[in-house]
Amino acid sequence: MKQAGSTPWRRVAKLAELSAHPCAASVDGIELVLVQSADGVRAYDAVCPHRGALLSEGEIADGKLICRGHGWRFDLVTGERVGGIPKACLRSHPTRVEGDDVLLQIGTTPAAGALVTSALRKLDDLPGPRGWPFFGNAFQIDVPRIHHILEGWVQKYGPLVKVSLMGKPVLIVGDAKLSEALLLARPKSVRRPTALELVFDEMGVTGVFSTEGDAWREQRRLALQALANRHLRGFFPTLRRVVERLDARLCREASEGKVVEIQDDLMRFTVDVTTSLVFSTDMNTLDGGDDVLQRHLSHVFPAFARRTFAVFPYWRYFRLPVDRALDRALGEIRKLQDRLVNETRARLAARPANDTEPRDFLEAMLLARDEHGRPFSNEIIYGNMLTMLLAGEDTTAQSLAWVVHFLCERPDVVARLRDEADAAFGSQRVPFDFDRAQDLPYFDAVINEAMRLRPVAPFLGLEAVEDLVVGDVQVRKGTWIDVMLRLPALDAAHFADPESFRPERWLPERPKTEAHVSGASLPFGSGPRICPGRSLALLEMRVVLATLIKNFDVERVGSPDDIVEHFSFTTSPRGLRIRLHERAAAAGSLETAAARSVSA
Ligand code: HEM
Repeated sequence: MKQAGSTPWRRVAKLAELSAHPCAASVDGIELVLVQSADGVRAYDAVCPHRGALLSEGEIADGKLICRGHGWRFDLVTGERVGGIPKACLRSHPTRVEGDDVLLQIGTTPAAGALVTSALRKLDDLPGPRGWPFFGNAFQIDVPRIHHILEGWVQKYGPLVKVSLMGKPVLIVGDAKLSEALLLARPKSVRRPTALELVFDEMGVTGVFSTEGDAWREQRRLALQALANRHLRGFFPTLRRVVERLDARLCREASEGKVVEIQDDLMRFTVDVTTSLVFSTDMNTLDGGDDVLQRHLSHVFPAFARRTFAVFPYWRYFRLPVDRALDRALGEIRKLQDRLVNETRARLAARPANDTEPRDFLEAMLLARDEHGRPFSNEIIYGNMLTMLLAGEDTTAQSLAWVVHFLCERPDVVARLRDEADAAFGSQRVPFDFDRAQDLPYFDAVINEAMRLRPVAPFLGLEAVEDLVVGDVQVRKGTWIDVMLRLPALDAAHFADPESFRPERWLPERPKTEAHVSGASLPFGSGPRICPGRSLALLEMRVVLATLIKNFDVERVGSPDDIVEHFSFTTSPRGLRIRLHERAAAAGSLETAAARSVSA
């Protein structure tokens, strides 16, 4: 640990900012959280010691600071963890209040965890696959299989592998502790790759996923507000309406006996949910109405994957048919965004001047002003609208599709899910109660287990912002780093019988002696940039799964061996096709469901 040269008092916030919520502060690149306790203002290190989520994104209740990640609670006065094992204590920093200002003294830099030991090796000393002169390993990367290729290299060469792409060195990290330390080292030491930011910007997706620095902080704050747990309760009736529509669509597909491309239905569902929550606009793509967005969005993720891993950025010089199709899709999405922005601006203008509370993410973006009173640029507003749509659509739909894939051959798991769903929701076809939908332990176990084996993000691309030591390897600023998220979850040291789909491992009934390191499975990432849509995604997954399981028998069309894990920025079960059969117990309600959908 390095001692700071001097310890001056620094003004970091206004007292009024700390009234009800934790407040983020940053001093010399050190991230902190400020809270108002019964004993005065307290400043703690910014991240939760559990999984590194930003504590400024948490909530304050009953004298506790509650982490949004997994609910760890800390006493506001002492920083000690309350009511849980292992014990933990937030590191505090001296504060004082002068008039309206909160001042802070930073004496030491935060411990850098597993990242920093002492460098024994250079990146070039690491093993790795042989490549070509200049091109390096670029031609060995087949984008739809890239996750398998990277995982294969780690399995062959060890937890730290060196690869080269067009003269650019890349470090692949397959070690769980180092991976998590890297995710936690954001934003100071590590960031998302600059190449990814450029590709996103070129496509008009300048938003919270790809942005860095202060711009990211502000955009993330607004995204978190929109996706906060406390909003989900109020949103539940809307969510239920969309699920009822999905149920009616599935009923139709069951009665027609057709082969169902379930991913298409699920993506319609997630688009309708995301637009309802984030823009207060129900696109109703499930009923086939305004599905422009749905069709055009499908061009964007594959383009991210193609361009981020392209050997040469040809599209900056000429357009192939696939790029022209993308341009047309982005143009159509833009028209739709224009419509949404104009409608929202009109809605805001019609409100009384003293009604400035945003109702959704788009309103928050349009109302936000920086310290000079300037609004966000159109580029950032449109970029974030698209970011939220993309982040909310594919990820949740494909994660659900993977659950369906696993359930097809597991009637025992389906039976147990049904018992839990029937106990919680009785004869209702669709979950009707927010609290009950949040309390479905076996559903959570099934979802966790599917995401452990098939996370839609099996790896994350990063880039060193400064010279770093990763394990014992010196890594230069600007080096690309691929953090393997799935591999640690398939390690027998972390999960017993790791290749098997065994939801019970996530329940207390798991044998106490069996290996189970839950933190080795990180489907939502980790640290300050952990997925802010996690609670929404899990709620969506529970209610969709409960509806599917309660009302239908699901039959796979084809063989599980036909399924290909296909990467196009997220991974999906390509080839998944099913047939649905209305369950005898639920069939009586079929008409009701269809009628509900017509009247809606
Ligand atoms: C099962 C569904 C989902 C999965 C598996 C998932 C996974 C992820 C992962 C792995 C990341 C990167 C985290 C990191 O860098 O550490 C991420 C980021 C993000 N996700 Fe999700 N996500 C899901 C659903 C959602 C939903 C429903 C939304 C919003 C509607 C959302 C919004 C975002 C945003 C805005 C980011 C960027 C955060 C930042 O860079 O600060 N995600 N997600």
